[in-house]
Amino acid sequence: MNFITVKTYEELSKKAANIIAAQIINKPNCVLGLATGSTPVGTYDILTKYYEDGVLDFSTVTSVNLDEYEGLDGANDQSYRYFMNKNLFDRVNINKNNTYVPNGCATDLVKEGKDYDCLIKELGGIDIQLLGIGLDGHIGFNEPEDFFTAETHPVDLDPSTIKANARFFEDESQVPKRAITMGMMSIMQAKKILLIANSASKKEIVEKAFYGPITPLVPASILQLHPDVTVIFSEK
Ligand code: GLP
Repeated sequence: MNFITVKTYEELSKKAANIIAAQIINKPNCVLGLATGSTPVGTYDILTKYYEDGVLDFSTVTSVNLDEYEGLDGANDQSYRYFMNKNLFDRVNINKNNTYVPNGCATDLVKEGKDYDCLIKELGGIDIQLLGIGLDGHIGFNEPEDFFTAETHPVDLDPSTIKANARFFEDESQVPKRAITMGMMSIMQAKKILLIANSASKKEIVEKAFYGPITPLVPASILQLHPDVTVIFSEK
């Protein structure tokens, strides 16, 4: 594992964007695994700037996102599809038909999960997976459990996650209680993993995840078994 500590969010975002840009330059038709949450916003801003400056081309890139809230479609401004369009896809020259987010409105979320895993396989797997981390150690929406779940699957969100994510909604009651998330199989089969975390409040969980025991109670701890993980952490 390559654990990089930086001083500011700007530095973190720049380093993360440079790693993703390098991936795109090395393999223009790569598959990017992308994440939502507040942490990657700065990374997406810098990637957008590289595109605007003419040094990065997304035209042959494919993306697969980690997760989506149940019941929110892409027109809903709280959906992760909307987030991705707004923060990245609408700002660069990626072909939207090649951007995938699990469908939180599918009538059968278990089937949607299976189809999503098949899609990732058909795409040849993920070249680099960008991850944030929740305060309870979740990655995607893989919440603390007694076991690691391999497949893309529906989940009941942890009350602490609902509380943490309420800041994006009018109030806590508006936060969906369920979601669909990529499971550990597709995440762990990504060729490279890039996890970004910022703020002092994440310090403890990041330490637990990367230096504590591997346990489904800290879902991100599974990443200790991945051969190519970069973590970028900033306290501010
Ligand atoms: C959500 C997402 C995660 C993300 C987490 C942390 O729960 N499903 O993928 O890592 O939020 O978000 P933030 O970066 O805002 O702390």
